Amino acid sequence: MNKDFLNTDLTGKTVVFTGGTDGMGKEAVKKIAKMGATIMLFGRSKEKTLTVVKELNEIAQKDNTMFVQCDLASLTSIRNAAQQVLDNCPKIDYVINCAGANFGERKLTEAGHEMTWAVNHLAPFLLNNLLLERLKENDKAKIVNLSSATEKSGHIHFDDIHLSKHWSTFKSYTQAKLAMNMVTRKLAKELEGTAVTVNALNPGFIKTNLLRELKGWERIIGVPYMFFFASKPEVGANRILRLAFSEEFDGITGKFIYEDKVRDPNPEALNPQIVDKVWALSKEHTA
Ligand SMILES: NC(=O)c1ccc[n+]([C@@H]2O[C@H](COP(=O)([O-])OP(=O)(O)OC[C@H]3O[C@@H](n4cnc5c(N)ncnc54)[C@H](OP(=O)(O)O)[C@@H]3O)[C@@H](O)[C@H]2O)c1
Repeated sequence: MNKDFLNTDLTGKTVVFTGGTDGMGKEAVKKIAKMGATIMLFGRSKEKTLTVVKELNEIAQKDNTMFVQCDLASLTSIRNAAQQVLDNCPKIDYVINCAGANFGERKLTEAGHEMTWAVNHLAPFLLNNLLLERLKENDKAKIVNLSSATEKSGHIHFDDIHLSKHWSTFKSYTQAKLAMNMVTRKLAKELEGTAVTVNALNPGFIKTNLLRELKGWERIIGVPYMFFFASKPEVGANRILRLAFSEEFDGITGKFIYEDKVRDPNPEALNPQIVDKVWALSKEHTA
């Protein structure tokens, strides 16, 4: 892979970044800080996020990173965070929705949504929509949504979207990541004629804290499997940065980037009727 994109000068650019406090996102924001961008760093834990903010400002040798308090499981928190971004950033160049989570048991958010659906799908859906008008004002802007290779095994359970009858970590995660791919395609269509592009990324199998909440056999198998077989966080971080900053992706929109190549997503994501239904449902859930 040509890594020239790592030398991009992001001075004067603003990057909104979720999931930069751990895993591959943390590796990515360190590089973004070095490239000189202003970073709006979302975090649910003030203490943990401020530690990262300090590290990034030391790397940049400037107070370029701002903490944005946000629990992505809460629609109210997302709305407040988006407002903070709008109040502080006259221009937004990049939105990188890296935050994601796997859960060991079924939980509901305060709004009554299944937690995996809420954090992995509804949160980036809402955040993108809240920031969209500001992004559109720019002469070039990009959105990167973190999806997963597992979206291929996903299915949208319209009859039980919150999986009250049968829930599993895998079923909930694959549904959410598939939905993310669907709305990425639809958003790209809505953005036709603007200078904003949006793509979804499978960053690869990366050694991170993603499985921290797993329980039982999923934990016993999953955690060592990740430890031995997954790539280091920098690999995922570089894929995120390449999609966001490399000029080779300029003008490419509505695509699923599988590690380093454009690939067709799950066939359900290619069905415009299903995609429209997921879009409408996501609007309803975030209204
Ligand atoms: N690792 C893989 O193999 C892999 C493969 C495919 C896709 N992905 C996707 O890649 C992305 C990055 O994941 P990772 O592997 O780096 O996982 P990770 O190490 O667990 O990092 C997840 C990040 O998301 C944040 N986050 C989770 N829930 C949140 C919430 N409710 N509010 C605010 N922030 C929240 C975490 O914040 P805290 O620091 O507060 O916990 C952390 O910064 C995710 O979207 C994941 O689904 C990962």
